[in-house]
Amino acid sequence: MRSPLFKTRITEMLGIRHPILCGGMGPGLSDATYVAAVVNAGGMGFIVAAGFPDPEEFREQLRKCRQLTFGKRFGVNLYISGQAKAAGRLQEQVKILAEEDVLCVETSGASPEGILPALRDAGIKVLHKVPAVRYARSAERLGVDAVIVVGNDCGGHPGTYGISSMVQAPHASKEISIPLVIGGGMGTGRQLAATLMMGADAVLMGSRMLVSEELWIHRRYKDLLVESDGTDSVVVKTGLRQHHRVLNNESAKAVAALDATGTSDFERYRPHVMGALTTQAYLTGDSSLGMLDYGPSVVFADAVQPVEAIFDEVLDDARQAMLRFEGLCRQA
Ligand SMILES: Cc1cc2nc3c(=O)[nH]c(=O)nc-3n(C[C@H](O)[C@H](O)[C@H](O)COP(=O)(O)O)c2cc1C
Repeated sequence: MRSPLFKTRITEMLGIRHPILCGGMGPGLSDATYVAAVVNAGGMGFIVAAGFPDPEEFREQLRKCRQLTFGKRFGVNLYISGQAKAAGRLQEQVKILAEEDVLCVETSGASPEGILPALRDAGIKVLHKVPAVRYARSAERLGVDAVIVVGNDCGGHPGTYGISSMVQAPHASKEISIPLVIGGGMGTGRQLAATLMMGADAVLMGSRMLVSEELWIHRRYKDLLVESDGTDSVVVKTGLRQHHRVLNNESAKAVAALDATGTSDFERYRPHVMGALTTQAYLTGDSSLGMLDYGPSVVFADAVQPVEAIFDEVLDDARQAMLRFEGLCRQA
């Protein structure tokens, strides 16, 4: 494992070697095996709770991860739906996290306000993920431990404002006092170095990691990612105001066509956005159908590699970037 290059508020807070977080990837992609690989490489990963709806299976994943990390603690991604009927499930998940001594959560979706007291009582750090600085400000006021701000280039849900990571990073670092993570389009060490220079404490990567050997998704899909130049990433579901950055496959094209009609009738979208299509694509490697979260940072994935090799590449690149920068600076 590489020796640390950077010490930031996030590396200190989470006790990790490198300021690299790997965002939770559903459905069930971020499982015990993948998250343990990220933690063992010196970063922080998050098991996606929604990927394991059965509480005992979820608990098993947490225990397996703890074994695979040789006792090191790790994170869980919690989706906050904001719907009253989901509150019970969320409380149950938080209870399991406390019992299993989980270190931190990456929360996304609605405000984490309802579960903050329980998480705080259990000593679990809360990193709330948002698509705009205005929400990061609210999260800071609520008392979360850190915020993750993602730009429009992120795979998954970039929000509706379309602001790039290049703008989010310097804006958020001016506005936010708590530790700050920036995601969206990240996949190289030069971006890591630049993001830290813009005032952040860590980067968050998702799409770049899809070629990790430790992920169970089909090899054929990983090969597609290796070949991609990132231009096959598209934002759809704009008609429903649920902007979603995905692979531009047949389902995405059908959804874009619906968006263009101006409809907001979910029943017309349903056949194209069903979760079963997504799981089927990852299992079989036939990526023609399903909403497959996918950002342009796949362009940085040149090979299917173990997580640790991806980290090595990113850290080597960060070092090179810093040396280059030093060479550019005029001596005072
Ligand atoms: C395949 C995939 C699945 C994802 N699933 C989730 C999820 O279930 N929950 C979540 O909060 N974010 C999810 N994300 C978003 C990531 O956690 C992360 O915020 C994003 O990938 C960062 O941007 P990047 O893809 O440009 O690196 C997903 C991203 C990808 C690529």
